[in-house]
Amino acid sequence: MAKKDDSLNAFMDVSKDEAEVDASKKVRVGIIGCGWIAETHLSSYLRQPDVEIVAGCDLIPGKAEAFFKDRGIEGVKTDYADHKAMLADKSLKLDCVSVCTYNRTHAICAIDSLNAGVNVLLEKPMCVTTEEAVEIMRAEKKSGKVLSIGFQPRFDANMQMIKKIVQSGELGKIYYVQTGGGRRRGIPFPYGTTFIEDKTAGLGALGDIGCYSLDCVLNALGYPKPLTVSGYKSDFFGKDPNYSGYVKKGHPEYAEKFSVDDFAAAFIRLEGGIILDFRIAWAMNLDTSGDSIIMGTKGSLRIPSTECWNGSFDKPLKIYHEVAGEQVCTEIPLIGNKACMPSLFDQKIRTFLDASKNGGAAPVPSSEILYNQAILDGIAKSAALGKEVEITIPKI
Ligand SMILES: NC(=O)c1ccc[n+]([C@@H]2O[C@H](COP(=O)([O-])OP(=O)(O)OC[C@H]3O[C@@H](n4cnc5c(N)ncnc54)[C@H](O)[C@@H]3O)[C@@H](O)[C@H]2O)c1
Repeated sequence: MAKKDDSLNAFMDVSKDEAEVDASKKVRVGIIGCGWIAETHLSSYLRQPDVEIVAGCDLIPGKAEAFFKDRGIEGVKTDYADHKAMLADKSLKLDCVSVCTYNRTHAICAIDSLNAGVNVLLEKPMCVTTEEAVEIMRAEKKSGKVLSIGFQPRFDANMQMIKKIVQSGELGKIYYVQTGGGRRRGIPFPYGTTFIEDKTAGLGALGDIGCYSLDCVLNALGYPKPLTVSGYKSDFFGKDPNYSGYVKKGHPEYAEKFSVDDFAAAFIRLEGGIILDFRIAWAMNLDTSGDSIIMGTKGSLRIPSTECWNGSFDKPLKIYHEVAGEQVCTEIPLIGNKACMPSLFDQKIRTFLDASKNGGAAPVPSSEILYNQAILDGIAKSAALGKEVEITIPKI
């Protein structure tokens, strides 16, 4: 199995626990797109007692076949030119698919799968544009199938604590939120250029890690509707052939191919009079672009600066508030012993399977991530226009 870049894979720790699962009927799973993240989906599925991986496909001829063969997995059908061909093979009797393609084909793969009557776990970001997200949700509604979006940090107990604190009312009325994060040098190109070319990725740092930091705070707030956005994006590092990552890996020509954002920032107005101040970087000359903060009339929460995408903090949350008329700071200790818990990825896969088997609600619903997507798209559109834009979302 190919060795992954550890700095990009902190969330993929192997599960130690096995939850009780009814394995009497196998869930028939197909994988669409057999690239980098598909490996993590596959590993998590293989740890579930009730899953049979029946098919996989990729646009690159031979890639799906090699994907399973290299991992010693036999009996998986892979002779498909694309996802449409796989979905058309009714002999597979697919229950579920993981859509692990690059961002630009998320929408078509999710829509076609839902139209084929299959439950869908769709990798993040949901897609590239708001219009695509709306089309995906229309297909979801029509199909009645489960669609869950691949935000594994949602399953981190510390992330969940942020939501509990906000929803408890401990902070009072929330009026200002700051979120974001990033890496000093971390433009991803693990197996080529699909992350950094517009024709495949559509969004850069924004879609790759920005969607996580937005989810961290918007989920806590109950996903208020975004109203307007004034966005900025840049590509100073990605377009530089002397960028250290390219030089180290011997690929200065990637600078020519780089056609997405490596930094983005925005000022967003949310329903309920809340301001969201956001920034995200794949590369910057700074250790961190700042902690996330949620400011309220009774207290404010500081979420320690983190790479934000892997759903983990290395320092406690802090609440700044008044107790008996005194200004104090309360630390919320870090929760959980990660070594003893199923990995976030296993939880993402397990909750999707459970919802698909039982016809339950999607663990990470599209109705929430639609607003995340509208912000990403709003930032891209505002940056292109050089002015604030209103966010309008068509009826689903
Ligand atoms: N959740 C996470 O932690 C995480 C981590 C990394 C990547 N991702 C997401 O996963 C997605 C894929 O990333 P990756 O690094 O695996 O990309 P990748 O380029 O390594 O793999 C994508 C594969 O999909 C194939 N593909 C595209 N359209 C297809 C279609 N219509 N039918 C069949 N195959 C098709 C491509 O040929 C390619 O092999 C991205 O959207 C990314 O944001 C999520």
